[in-house]
Amino acid sequence: MRPTIAAAVLALSLTAASGAYAQDAVAGKTTFAGRCAACHQVEAAKSGPMAPSLKGVFGRKIASLTDFNYSDALKAKTGKWTAAELDTYLASPLKYAPGTKMFMAITDAADRANVIAYLKTVK
Ligand code: HEC
Repeated sequence: MRPTIAAAVLALSLTAASGAYAQDAVAGKTTFAGRCAACHQVEAAKSGPMAPSLKGVFGRKIASLTDFNYSDALKAKTGKWTAAELDTYLASPLKYAPGTKMFMAITDAADRANVIAYLKTVK
């Protein structure tokens, strides 16, 4: 049974290293299509009328596109869109940045992790 235990320990440590949930960019893409794509563009860097483009959002400075008129609340944020910042914003946009123009939350932590994994791929 030793190899099994070793594999289980390895799997657990891999999970711990990448966050609490196994992230699935493919599942995240589906969630994104259903809940985010109505407003957000990911194919082109140009923002749409509803929302800033999310192409290349991972690692980008928060509220930094020049072709979108962000809320003062989001503009007041410093730093970049890391996995942790995205997770907090998407869990509750209005708690993260009271006054933000975006109110679409993803309440399920695993769904959030998947969407963030997907956002990393839209460079
Ligand atoms: C009803 C339209 C709408 C929907 C649906 C929507 N958003 Fe947004 N999103 C916005 C708007 C508007 C902003 C700009 C917010 C501001 O200026 O306060 C924004 C901002 C963002 C930002 C910050 C972008 C930047 O350039 O700093 C991220 C990340 C984001 N949304 C992710 C998502 C994800 C992921 C989903 C799907 C769960 C989603 N949004 C669904 C309208 C929307």
